[in-house]
Amino acid sequence: MNKHLINAGKAAAEILSLLESFIAAGRTGLDINRFIENHVEKYYPGYTLPCKGYGGFPAASCVSINNCIVHGVPDSRIIRNGDLVKVDIVVEMGGWYADSARTYIVGEVPPDVKRLVEVTQKALYVAIAESRPGKRTGDVGYVTQAYVEKEGFSVMRKYCGHGIGQSMHAEPSVPNYGRRGEGPEIKEGMILAVEPMVFMGKHEIKIGPDKWSVLAEDGAMTAHFEHTILVTKGDPVIITA
Ligand code: MF3
Ligand code: CO
Repeated sequence: MNKHLINAGKAAAEILSLLESFIAAGRTGLDINRFIENHVEKYYPGYTLPCKGYGGFPAASCVSINNCIVHGVPDSRIIRNGDLVKVDIVVEMGGWYADSARTYIVGEVPPDVKRLVEVTQKALYVAIAESRPGKRTGDVGYVTQAYVEKEGFSVMRKYCGHGIGQSMHAEPSVPNYGRRGEGPEIKEGMILAVEPMVFMGKHEIKIGPDKWSVLAEDGAMTAHFEHTILVTKGDPVIITA
């Protein structure tokens, strides 16, 4: 297994773990983004956060709050008790990329919001377990969608997980929805970013005024978890664990 990829994955996991205690009411998305940049600068020299500048994206990380499901631009809005904050980062080392995201619960949330977060995290592991040689990307999408809809929530259609490795985005696309037997075959050695994006309400989206933020159109809560994995003959290896 590639050493740089492993190291990029460890760095991403460490940063997202540190955010479990950093993210709190009173902080802002800009505080979170600065924490991430400072941590890499101090402890991971030579590593980069390639979201910055990607397609013109203005920050090193995506910070998406409440009905913003992905691609939130960190800003000065103050995070409050009851918010759901999603942080998505890509870490690059030596030309290898690891992509991971978590949803953080700020203070107290109603039971249904807590369940949304739990279901989305579980959906990630359901999707990872299906990511094996001989399966197709439609199988991964199918099990994700079936599980999430059984729990009464809905999945993203417009954005998907993706191949990753020596670039941030590669083939194949790894959808959150689908039908068994459809899509490209998953092969041993593939590196995939698997990322359930789940809506408490309807899955329709709109883009925010910053031209990046992907928002649930109905304004309801959303959650997102992501790991970069390596497909093997046996269980997938989670690079960002
Ligand atoms: N992890 C995100 C994705 O794969 C990163 C997007 S790059 C950004 O979609 F420019 F949107 F930040
Ligand atoms: Co990501």
